[in-house]
Amino acid sequence: MRERLLELQVQALAEIEKVDALEELETWRVGYLGKKGELSGVLRTMGTLSVEERPLVGQIANDVRAELETAYQTREKSLQIAAMRKREAKETIDVTLPGRKSWLGAEHPLHKVIRRIEDIFLGFGFTVEEGPEVELDYYNFEALNLPKDHPARDMQDTFYITEEILMRTHTSPMQARMLAERYPATDIRMIVPGRVYRRDDDDATHSHAFMQVEGLVVGHGVRMSDLKGMLLQFAREMFGEDQEVRLRPSFFPFTEPSAELDIRCIYCGGSGCRTCKQTGFIEILGCGMIHPNVLQMQGYDARELSGFAFGMGVERIAMLMYRVEDIRQFYQNDVRLLEQFATLTR
Ligand code: PHE
Repeated sequence: MRERLLELQVQALAEIEKVDALEELETWRVGYLGKKGELSGVLRTMGTLSVEERPLVGQIANDVRAELETAYQTREKSLQIAAMRKREAKETIDVTLPGRKSWLGAEHPLHKVIRRIEDIFLGFGFTVEEGPEVELDYYNFEALNLPKDHPARDMQDTFYITEEILMRTHTSPMQARMLAERYPATDIRMIVPGRVYRRDDDDATHSHAFMQVEGLVVGHGVRMSDLKGMLLQFAREMFGEDQEVRLRPSFFPFTEPSAELDIRCIYCGGSGCRTCKQTGFIEILGCGMIHPNVLQMQGYDARELSGFAFGMGVERIAMLMYRVEDIRQFYQNDVRLLEQFATLTR
């Protein structure tokens, strides 16, 4: 039995020399030192020994175990170090390598313009509202004094989804929605930025989807002069302190009287150039006093309450401000164009 133990020791020590992976070492440990391992196997036959022999063999067995355990620990440590070295070699970080630059996005020019418009009207005490792009025929047309057979419906070629549901052709449906929602309001001052859709063929100045900002003011004794004064102040904050405006008579079914607002050409100052087509003025929005029918349809008494509304095209203003000559550039997302707005503060 003593020989068997010594043999076991020699064999185990020889084998551990050849172990070169931690998983193999574990197999070795289970094989020799584990509960069902070789050493335990030998010790289990101790019962067959005589009483005198037992302490002697027991001593040897303990020595062998201690010997194997030390060998195990030494091997484990050196294998762990080897494994770490290997990993270190593979995962080398070159701290002298320059870092990768991450690109910071820029605010889209259209949103820059919308934010400026919002800031100006917030300063006038307006709220900013949003409405649905998929709209009912009722709000887009009917409630704006445009019944089903009205010829002015042709002014805006429409994407219909069903007979009664369409993509809004302007942000004006929010006039009727807000009148209804806030009923019986006596003081509304709000703007509505948002996307609108028209069945137009895309070219340098037309897009089938574009942005508008609607404005609505309702109250007691609101007059056309209030409209003009407010739009003049807006134009000055938007385009410069000495900006001049003019109102030109126009037609919209939901306003009466209706007008278009021109600003003095921001390029030539009024002397005439290519941008203003030699007129000295540039149109930026449609507006007017809210038609009594629009108020009445939402339950208001048009003799008591009045108001005005306006609607401007955001792309048009952005094209003027940033000298972008093709509306499609706002939607092509060419990073070279967008990057130019990254550092602009307005
Ligand atoms: N909704 C009109 C358009 O898209 C603009 C407008 C708004 C006119 C409000 C008058 C009042 O052309």
